[in-house]
Amino acid sequence: MELYEVMRSTFAAREFTEDPMPDSVVYKILDNARFAPSGGNRQGWKVIIVRERQTKEALAELTIPAAQKYAAQKKAGENPWNTIIPSSVDMEIIDSTPVPDHLTKTYLNAALVLIACVDLTVVASLDQGLNRIGVVSGASIYPFVWNILLAARNEGYGGRITTLAISKEPEIRELLGIPDHYAVSAIIPMGKPVRQLTKLKRNSVSAFAFKEHWDGEALISEDKD
Ligand SMILES: Cc1cc2nc3c(=O)[nH]c(=O)nc-3n(C[C@H](O)[C@H](O)[C@H](O)COP(=O)(O)O)c2cc1C
Repeated sequence: MELYEVMRSTFAAREFTEDPMPDSVVYKILDNARFAPSGGNRQGWKVIIVRERQTKEALAELTIPAAQKYAAQKKAGENPWNTIIPSSVDMEIIDSTPVPDHLTKTYLNAALVLIACVDLTVVASLDQGLNRIGVVSGASIYPFVWNILLAARNEGYGGRITTLAISKEPEIRELLGIPDHYAVSAIIPMGKPVRQLTKLKRNSVSAFAFKEHWDGEALISEDKD
C-alpha cells in the first residue's frame, strides 16, 4: 500500500474475523516495525505474543475496573483518567457502572494480543524533573507500537492500542512474568478486521499547527483546489 494511504486509514480495529494471524505475518510486521526510533537508539522494547484463550480472558478481566471508571467519567462529561482536572465521580458510582464490553471483551475475538513493554533501565526521561506527568519516556516505545499497527494495516490486518488494563500492571506482570523494570506500554489486540474504515475523524491541520508562536497564524493549505 502507498504510505499516505496506510497512514490515513490505520484505524482502531475492534472486531475481528476468525482468520488466523500466522507467526510468519507477525514476524514480518515486527521485522519492519523494529526500524522505529527510540531515545539513544536503545530499542528497549520487548513484545509478548499472546494467543492462549485463558490469558486473553485474564487480560479482559484486568481491564474491567479501568473500563468502568472510564465509562463512568465519560457519562459525567469528564475526560477519563485525566490527571489535571480532578474527577467528580466517586468509587461507588464507578463500581456500579455496567462493564462496557466493547472495552473489555475485544481481546477475546482477536487472533492474538500483543503486549508491548519497554525497559525503563534504558529509557531517557528528560521530563523527570518537571512538575507534571511524564510523557517523554513514552516516545521511546510508542513510535515502535505505531509502526506495528501501520505494518499490520499494510499486510491487511488491524488492531489497536489499548491501555486500560495497564492500571493493573502488577497483575499483568504476574500473569506474563514481566520483570519490574519493564513498563507495560500497550496491549494490542490484532487480527483481520471485520470491516475496514477508510475515513477517519481527525481535526484539520489548521486546528493544531501555528507559525512561529503558540498564538501564531494557523497553517493552512496552499492547495487551491
Ligand atoms: C494512548 C492510547 C490509548 C488507548 N487506549 C484504548 C483502550 O484502552 N481501549 C480501547 O478500546 N481503545 C483505546 N485506544 C484507541 C483509541 O480509542 C482510538 O485510537 C481512537 O479513538 C481513534 O480511533 P480511530 O482510529 O478508529 O478513529 C487508545 C489509543 C491510544 C493512542
